[in-house]
Amino acid sequence: MAFGKKTTSIKKEILVVANWKMNPTAIGDAKRLFLEVKKAARHTKVPAVIAAPFPYIAELRKLTHNTHVSLGAQDAHFERSGTYTGEVSPLMLKSLGVSHVIVGHSERRAGGETDETISKKVTATLKAGMTPILCIGETKRDSAGQYLGVVEKQLRAALKPIAKTQIKNVVLAYEPVWAISKGDGKGKTATPADAYEMKLFIQKLLTDRYDRKTAESTHIIYGGSVNPKNAEELLEEGMVDGFLVGGASLKPKEFTAVLAAVHNHGTH
Ligand code: PGA
Repeated sequence: MAFGKKTTSIKKEILVVANWKMNPTAIGDAKRLFLEVKKAARHTKVPAVIAAPFPYIAELRKLTHNTHVSLGAQDAHFERSGTYTGEVSPLMLKSLGVSHVIVGHSERRAGGETDETISKKVTATLKAGMTPILCIGETKRDSAGQYLGVVEKQLRAALKPIAKTQIKNVVLAYEPVWAISKGDGKGKTATPADAYEMKLFIQKLLTDRYDRKTAESTHIIYGGSVNPKNAEELLEEGMVDGFLVGGASLKPKEFTAVLAAVHNHGTH
């Protein structure tokens, strides 16, 4: 794919999502971390979402006054209620003020979550009035470009039941699995060219499925070892519409610096 000319993509508000995964291990630490992010977000005015572990959400909600930091969850079930031991309904999350739900993260796909289940979760999250952050991404790169087919299959399956009027409420997170860190935010990051190629590819798929305007207005964010050092070039050259940050989101200084990089980029 050629990288010569940038597309005239519609200017979007940059979104930064923190994926805390199964961290931290005590509510006190979660509160402290949340308050640090809140403080940083006040200065940078970048819209941030904290996808916290389920047990912390109700407590963290009490800290969401006077801030544009909103609460996210890392998964939700596709049914609204019922005999599903250990599961969490999208309606429960909505009632706790959650605005975004990560769906189909590669760590859940690795645990057996299928494209079909993921698709149902996207629909259920939308139906409950929240924004799904749909994760797609290949496990490895190959010179023949088969990784594009992997992403295409994931995207087509997940969006099958999603109408044009709904896709504007979905955030797509391109997370190449090979770039996701072991928890320290210091893995092998995709290059801005990798991210840009995939953005164009996803936009092409969205154009085929919906139309060009819809494709250009859909948020396509990047995740995989995002840190203060690479954030700026991923925005400038990778043209991504935001980030899903794992390891670095657990270190207040690093996450604050990512927010600052987005602020400096000046497109929020
Ligand atoms: P990472 O995680 O930033 O630690 O690579 C990203 C993610 O898995 O969402």
